[in-house]
Amino acid sequence: QRQQQQPHTTTIITSSELSPAMESPDKSEPVNHERRILPASRAELLAGDLPEALADGRRLWIRGTVLSRRVLSRSLAFASVRLEAHSEAGMPWQTEKLHSKWGASQQHDGAEARGELQAHLSEAAAVCGLCFCAGLLDADGDFEATDEASWWHVVCQETAWAAFPGRKGDLPIGTLLEASVASLPMYRPEPMVLRWRRLEEAAPPGDPPPVPSAFNMARHHAARDAINRSAKQELLKARGGQATLCRVWSAGRECCDGCECRHVLASPIEDARVADIKSMREESRAAAALERSLYDEASGDVSAHRSEAKAEKTQRAELFAAWLLETYGADALGAGGGVLDVAGGRGDLSWALSTGHEVPCTLVDPALRRDGQLRSWQRRALRKSGREGFRHVAAEFGPEAFGSPATPYGPLLLSASLVVGLHPDQATEAIVDLALAAGVRFAVVPCCVFTHLFPSRELEPGQPVRSLNQFCAYLRLKDSRIRETFLGFEGRNKVLYLP
Ligand SMILES: C[S@@+](CC[C@H](N)C(=O)[O-])C[C@H]1O[C@@H](n2cnc3c(N)ncnc32)[C@H](O)[C@@H]1O
Repeated sequence: QRQQQQPHTTTIITSSELSPAMESPDKSEPVNHERRILPASRAELLAGDLPEALADGRRLWIRGTVLSRRVLSRSLAFASVRLEAHSEAGMPWQTEKLHSKWGASQQHDGAEARGELQAHLSEAAAVCGLCFCAGLLDADGDFEATDEASWWHVVCQETAWAAFPGRKGDLPIGTLLEASVASLPMYRPEPMVLRWRRLEEAAPPGDPPPVPSAFNMARHHAARDAINRSAKQELLKARGGQATLCRVWSAGRECCDGCECRHVLASPIEDARVADIKSMREESRAAAALERSLYDEASGDVSAHRSEAKAEKTQRAELFAAWLLETYGADALGAGGGVLDVAGGRGDLSWALSTGHEVPCTLVDPALRRDGQLRSWQRRALRKSGREGFRHVAAEFGPEAFGSPATPYGPLLLSASLVVGLHPDQATEAIVDLALAAGVRFAVVPCCVFTHLFPSRELEPGQPVRSLNQFCAYLRLKDSRIRETFLGFEGRNKVLYLP
C-alpha cells in the first residue's frame, strides 16, 4: 500500500537481511535500485508494457525450506528459502545446484537487474530470497492451467494452493514449500511467488492420533528452538559471516547482553528502512491507543476497572476467581460437575477455585504443561491438605468433543455449573456457542481475535470482525442476556457473561 502511493518510479528498499543471497556477487558493479511500483494484480502486470512478463523463460518451480520470513504489509512479505530442488519449463525436477543461465538470461534491461538474479539463483546460491506480493498470488489456482500448460511435470495435486502469508505463522520457519516463481527484476530483485503451497512431511507410520488429542508443550518448544538455532546458523553462513541487524536495537530499545547481532546501520538503504519501520510502529501504536480507549469506554460496571491501582496481569486468575465467587456464589459454582475451565493453560484459575474455595473444577486444554504435572509446591500443598485438586481433560474444546451428549465430553459440559474462559484464545467463541446451546451459564474474558482463523465472522453483513472491540460486540449479539463488566487487573480485563 505504501509503495503504491509513491510516484511511478520509486526506490524499493532492498532487504539484504531477508535475502541473504541478494548482494551482487560482482561488488564493482553498482546495483541499480530504481524499480517500478508493484502491480496490484496479475491482470495489471500483463496489461502493462511487459507482455513477456510471465513467459516460461522467466519462470521456475522451486522447493525449499523456509529459513526466515518477514511480513512487511498486508500485501508484501518476504522469505529466505534454502533451495532443495528446482524445475524449469519443460524440465524435470533437479536437486543439484541451479543453472546460473536461468538468472543470467532473464535480465530485464541490462544494468537494472544485472548480477542480482544471478546471485539469487546461481550456482552459488543455496539460499534465495522470495517476495510474496498479494496482487500476484494465485491462491485459487485459477491461472494454473494457463501458466503451467507447457510444463511437463505433474505437481503435487493433493495440497491446496496457499493464500498470501499475511502473518509470520502462515510461513513457519522450517516449512517445506513448493512455489512457482517468476523473475520480475523490474519490480523486485528477488524471484516473485505466483503460487505456493506447503508440502507436508510424510505422516509417521501407525494409527493417526485420536481426536481430540493432547500435545506436549516442552517438546514443541524444544523442536522450535532447535529449528530457529540452525536456521540462524545457516543464514549467517550464507551471508559470509555478516551478522543480522539487531531488531531490538534498530527499534530504539535496549537489547540483551551478549547479543550477537549487528548494532550499526550498514547503508543509507538500511537507514531508510529502519526509519520507515519506526514510523509504521508509531502509527500502529496510535491505532492501538484508540482501540484501547474504545475498549475502556464500553458499557458495564466499570467500578473495578476505573480503580486507580490495577493489579498486575499475573494476578488475573485469582481476581477472576474472586469475581466468579462474588457473582455466582460458591454453592452455585459447586453444583453438578462444577466449573469447566476452558483453555485454562497451566490451571491457575482451576487451582484458585478448587483449592482455595473447594469448587470442583475441570481444566480443558490440549496443551500439557510439565507433562500434565502440577508444580511441586502444588503437589506438596495437596498432599498436606488431603485434597484432590482439579481434573485435567487434555482435549480441544469444540463441537467434535463437547457438542452433544453423544460426543466424548458432551455430558461433562451438560453437567457443568459454569463454563469459564480466561484469555481463551481460539476457544472463545466455542465457549459462548456451546454453553448457550447446552443451556449452561458462562463467563469469558476474550483476549485475541484470530481473524485469519475465523475469516467469516461478521458484525453485520460486509463488516468483518477484526478488532477485539468488534469481537466483543459480535459475541454479545449472540444473546441479549449477555452482560459485560471489567476486572481489576491490567490488560484485557473485560468479562462477557451470562448471569
Ligand atoms: C493465552 S493462553 C491462556 C491460558 C490461561 N487461561 C491464562 O489466562 O493464563 C490460551 C490457552 O488456550 C488454549 N486453547 C486454545 N484453543 C483451545 C481450544 N479449542 N480448547 C481448549 N483450549 C484451547 C491453549 O492451549 C492455551 O493454553
